[in-house]
Amino acid sequence: MKTLVLKENYESIATNLIKNGEIIVVPTETVYGLAGDALNKNSAKKIYSLKGRPQDNPLIVHISEINEIYRLVCDITTEQLNFLEHFWPGPLTVILKKSNIVPIETTGGLETVAIRMPNNNIIREIIKCTNTPLAAPSANLSGKPSPTRVEHVLEDFDNKIPLVIDGGQCELGIESTIIDLTSSVPRILRPGVITLEEIKKYLPNVEYGGFCEEDNLPIAPGMKYKHYAPEGKAYLVCGDNKSEYILNEIKSKIDKKIAVISFSENISKYENQTVLLFDMGSKLKPIEVSRKIFHLLRKCDEYNVEYIYIEFENESGIFVAIKNRLIKATSHNLINT
Ligand code: TXA
Ligand code: MG
Repeated sequence: MKTLVLKENYESIATNLIKNGEIIVVPTETVYGLAGDALNKNSAKKIYSLKGRPQDNPLIVHISEINEIYRLVCDITTEQLNFLEHFWPGPLTVILKKSNIVPIETTGGLETVAIRMPNNNIIREIIKCTNTPLAAPSANLSGKPSPTRVEHVLEDFDNKIPLVIDGGQCELGIESTIIDLTSSVPRILRPGVITLEEIKKYLPNVEYGGFCEEDNLPIAPGMKYKHYAPEGKAYLVCGDNKSEYILNEIKSKIDKKIAVISFSENISKYENQTVLLFDMGSKLKPIEVSRKIFHLLRKCDEYNVEYIYIEFENESGIFVAIKNRLIKATSHNLINT
């Protein structure tokens, strides 16, 4: 199958494909999504098989207007709606009890459903044209870094899907914050650009749902699987002496292909080294880092890098979410210096 990549005039072809149960790729403000009709169980099955994703790892259902949520959930309180109005459209996904029209194929067998209203005109326009919510996981093969550019999507899905809509580089670069509203204490199952501190202003008793602790997994079923992993062996290096540590590692691996992913502030420390050097952005600008991070992990694969050293230091706000992705990308190879 030839994959068509379109920047414009995609509306009618996208609508027809979705209505016929086909799967296409659409941009969102977080990452690209592999989208199909969320209310068609065969579309959901196709998404799992294309991604190579385990069937018990549920999909996020995307809507274009807040009132589309009513028919997808059993009940929703005024307080919950007010909360959503503050953050939608945006990088926030909520878990609620599902209604009967949402097939369990979409929810990975669960009685709950994850819903998000993205802040991106292309996907919202397609939801409006098709008149159905779109189930869309990140458009990467299971286990690979999430796609933030069309080139990443094509690495994984060229000639496997009929249509990719090109919306340019994703603005935020990491997936939405997921919050579970099905219990009395709201819990963040996956951190994102919308932080615990921001959510606390509206839901004062919100807590982290243990997404970092091995024993607590899996609260969001997707969190138990291998994720974002580049081919090379990757390390997340924290602490005051991280540059010295990385420089020593470079010295001891003279014959190996090494990449260093450094904050802009520290990049000059590695400039004389024979390594692939990537600037991930300023440690004062988390969005700069989130926007780039999956791209840089994929770059390491492109160059067949054997060892990857990623600097890290700030652990608050949006950096909590970036660290969460990097802990997974490095398979918990965390080094404190
Ligand atoms: O930003 C995003 O959320 C992107 C874009 C495309 O919208 N989507 C995304 O989807 O990241 P995906 O499938 O890669 O991640 C969905 C996560 C998985 O970890 C899954 O287990 C969790 O959401 N999830 C979905 N439904 C759930 C449910 N009912 N209960 C708990 N976790 C759920
Ligand atoms: Mg994903």
